[in-house]
Amino acid sequence: MSQGAGSTIEARRGEFLLSTDRDRLDLNVIHGFLTACYWAKGIPREVVARSIENSLCCGVYKQTQQVGFARVVSDFATYAYIGDVFVLEAFRGQGLGKWMMEAIMTHPQLQGLRRWSLVTRDAHSLYQQLSFTPLKKPENYMELHNPSVYQSFSGEAK
Ligand SMILES: CC(C)(COP(=O)(O)OP(=O)(O)OC[C@H]1O[C@@H](n2cnc3c(N)ncnc32)[C@H](O)[C@@H]1OP(=O)(O)O)[C@@H](O)C(=O)NCCC(=O)NCCS
Repeated sequence: MSQGAGSTIEARRGEFLLSTDRDRLDLNVIHGFLTACYWAKGIPREVVARSIENSLCCGVYKQTQQVGFARVVSDFATYAYIGDVFVLEAFRGQGLGKWMMEAIMTHPQLQGLRRWSLVTRDAHSLYQQLSFTPLKKPENYMELHNPSVYQSFSGEAK
């Protein structure tokens, strides 16, 4: 894996390129997936764009076509949250999801953190391979979850 201009990470595996270069990201692909998926259904395009601007983003590309995405919300010192991880259906089962996770967790700006977290409905075994575990003390963990937040945008341009 090479580190290019700034803190951009790029790596190649066969016909695929993994990159943290924000300029390569395809908002149409990312919004198209997220607005239809179970955890961000209806998310407006502008909200996806803002989340990208304020995250460390990882994309996987076949030539110029974006086929995978994941992003990290972090203070780059103590904590990181990994979210919006997906690989387009036609490209699943080839190790691309795991590759993005490995690239994120070995990223030089994300070392020595006290805590990583993520939320998943059914991909536990993917994250277990990267040392994630279920909450050890769920009674200590609190959240304020607003799953219908994007429904208030319905009818607006997405
Ligand atoms: C989850 C997802 C990103 C995995 O991407 P992928 O490129 O198909 O995964 P990989 O080929 O790297 O497989 C990684 C490993 O995770 C395992 N895995 C566990 N749960 C999985 C799941 N729900 N989907 C796919 N793989 C899963 C695979 O079996 C594989 O194990 P192996 O290495 O022992 O064979 C992809 O299936 C996806 O986009 N799913 C829909 C969106 C989603 O649910 N995202 C996760 C939100 S937390």
